[in-house]
Amino acid sequence: MSGFVEKPEPVQVPGLTHLHTGKVRDLYRNEAGDLVMVASDRMSAYDWVLPTEIPDKGRVLTQLSLWWFDLLTDLVPHHVVSTDLPAGAPADWEGRTLVCKSLNMVPVECVARGYLTGSGLVEYNETRTVCGLALPEGLSDGSELPAPIFTPATKAAVGDHDENVSYEEVARQIGAETAAMLRQTTLAVYSRARGIARERGIILADTKFEFGFEATEHGPKLVIADEVLTPDSSRFWPAASWEPGRAQPSYDKQFVRDWLTSPASGWDRRSEQPPPALPQEIVDATRAKYIEAYELLTGHTWS
Ligand SMILES: Nc1ncnc2c1ncn2[C@@H]1O[C@H](COP(=O)(O)OP(=O)(O)O)[C@@H](O)[C@H]1O
Ligand SMILES: [Mg+2]
Repeated sequence: MSGFVEKPEPVQVPGLTHLHTGKVRDLYRNEAGDLVMVASDRMSAYDWVLPTEIPDKGRVLTQLSLWWFDLLTDLVPHHVVSTDLPAGAPADWEGRTLVCKSLNMVPVECVARGYLTGSGLVEYNETRTVCGLALPEGLSDGSELPAPIFTPATKAAVGDHDENVSYEEVARQIGAETAAMLRQTTLAVYSRARGIARERGIILADTKFEFGFEATEHGPKLVIADEVLTPDSSRFWPAASWEPGRAQPSYDKQFVRDWLTSPASGWDRRSEQPPPALPQEIVDATRAKYIEAYELLTGHTWS
C-alpha cells in the first residue's frame, strides 16, 4: 500500500481551475492558461505522503528553485512566468506559489548522478551497471563516479516507484533527438549546480529534473520545469563528512526515514498500514535541515 494517508481537499480560488493534487504540489490553471503551482508543506517518504506537514517546507523548496532557475538561464530556459499571488488566493500561498508556462511535459524523470547510492547502488551491486551503463569495480555507497551519468526513470503515479530505464529505451519512447537533448541538458545543469554547491560545502550527489516543451513560432522549445535542485529532488550531502562505504548524512528526509524505520514509530514499512504522524521533534529537526540547506546554498538568511 502507498499513496496519501489523508488526501487534502483542494483550496477553491475564483478564476483558478484545480487540475491535480500531486504528492507535494497542487496544480491549477489560471484564466490566462498558465499553470499555478502551489508547493504545500506535505512530505513524502517510502512512497507515502505523510499525515504530518513540515512547516515552511513548500516555501523553502519554491524559493530555492527560484534561486537556482536564475543561475541556469544560459543553459536552459525555465518555466516560471511570475511569482505574483493570483487574485483571491489565500495569504498562506505567498512564497510557495509559482505561475508557470503550461508545458507539454516529457514523461521522463531526468536524473543525473555524480555519486553512487540509492537505486544506482542496488543495480551496481548486482550487475556493475547503473541504468545499463558499465561502471568500474570497487565502488561503494557514496563513491564518486568517474564522470556524472544520465540515468533516466519513467515517472510513476502517486504511490508507485519511479523505474530506472536505459537511455536506449528513452530514445525509443521519445525519439533519439529529444533523448540526446535531455541527456546533454541534464548533465550540463547538474555540472553547473554541483560546482556551485561544492563551493558552499555541499555535495550534490544526484538530482532529478523534469522538462517540457513550449510551443513557439519557431517550433517546440525545451524548458526546465517543476522544482529544481531542492532537497526533495536531490541528494545533498555535507562535504565535510563525506565518506564512501556507508550511507551519507543528507539534507533531506533523513530524520523522517530514520524515525519511521525505528522501533519508536511502531510502523512496519512492509505492512499495509499507513505511516503514523511524526513527533514534534522530528518535524522541527526536518524543518531545520531544509532551512539549513537553503541558507548554505543561497547564502541568504531564511526569514
Ligand atoms: N511547467 C509545467 N507544465 C506542466 N506540468 C508541470 C510543469 N511543471 C511541473 N509540472 C508537473 O506538476 C506536478 C508537480 O506536482 P508534484 O506534487 O511534484 O507531483 P508528483 O507527485 O508527480 O511529484 C508534476 O506532475 C510535474 O510533472
Ligand atoms: Mg514532484
